[in-house]
Amino acid sequence: MWNSLLTASDAAELTPAQNGFAPLSERNFVRICDVIRQACGIHITAKKKTLVEGRMRRRMRALDIPDPNTYCRLLLESDPLQQELAHFIDAVTTNKTDFFREPKHFDYLRDVFFPQVLARGQRSLKMWSAASSTGAEAYTLAMVADDFFAAQGGFDFTILATDICSEVRAKGVAARYPFNMMEPIPEEFRRRYIMIAKDPSRQEFRIVPKLRAKVQFQRVNLIADSYPFERDYDIIFLRNVLIYFDRATQKAVLRQLSAHLKPGGHFFLGHSETLAGSSLPFEQVASTIFVRR
Ligand SMILES: C[S@@+](CC[C@H](N)C(=O)[O-])C[C@H]1O[C@@H](n2cnc3c(N)ncnc32)[C@H](O)[C@@H]1O
Repeated sequence: MWNSLLTASDAAELTPAQNGFAPLSERNFVRICDVIRQACGIHITAKKKTLVEGRMRRRMRALDIPDPNTYCRLLLESDPLQQELAHFIDAVTTNKTDFFREPKHFDYLRDVFFPQVLARGQRSLKMWSAASSTGAEAYTLAMVADDFFAAQGGFDFTILATDICSEVRAKGVAARYPFNMMEPIPEEFRRRYIMIAKDPSRQEFRIVPKLRAKVQFQRVNLIADSYPFERDYDIIFLRNVLIYFDRATQKAVLRQLSAHLKPGGHFFLGHSETLAGSSLPFEQVASTIFVRR
């Protein structure tokens, strides 16, 4: 799956040997794959070896280590506090995200789910963007929820945004994004929910404080044995992360995360992801949208 998500900068990293770097040994590649699978569930196949070497080079450059096998010794044998492992996980995760990504999900919230919430007299909403990356998904939820509920005096909503990767969580807290991420945000929402940097050379925008206050970022490893949150969420987005896990891990994550939805709560998966094969108590109400019975 990684290949389909390769960016130009990833592609530029794909030929370590040609760039004068020693290649990563087969044995160390296998050990690295094991460590990553155990630490965060990401399943790396043999086809991704050059990609992994490319991502590893970011860390080697930061630590001034020229040889990937030397770096592996640091990661696999001299990292008792797992500090380097945390950096390496940051380097190997694919964090691609966008505002209004897979927009039908947000149309469904506005046209179907939010009106149902009001109709049953509910006055608050808890949402969770699991695997949130830099927060574009969480802030999109904040925009559509604020837009819908603002006129309903006293309605409150909160959004939990979680990710294993510390770099993306920090970006989410800062809520600053490059101009090229603005395009999918509707004109009307841009006027109300984003601020443009005064210094034009920064070429960035920021989410308004009112929405930033609604989103809380936290570290969650989806493959952990339990998550330290209540089991009363109305909505959970788990999009574009299951694809990196093997089938057994997918099932375990789906089982555990879905238990945090309250009955009637909605679960949103990425468009290439499925609940197939799980025996979870869900009814499908639209493409990749499921309701907990
Ligand atoms: C491709 S992004 C998806 C972002 C967003 N959900 C979207 O669809 O736009 C996948 C995210 O999953 C995170 N991730 C990968 N493995 C994880 C794990 N075991 N626990 C929590 N987050 C994980 C990565 O750090 C990355 O930010």
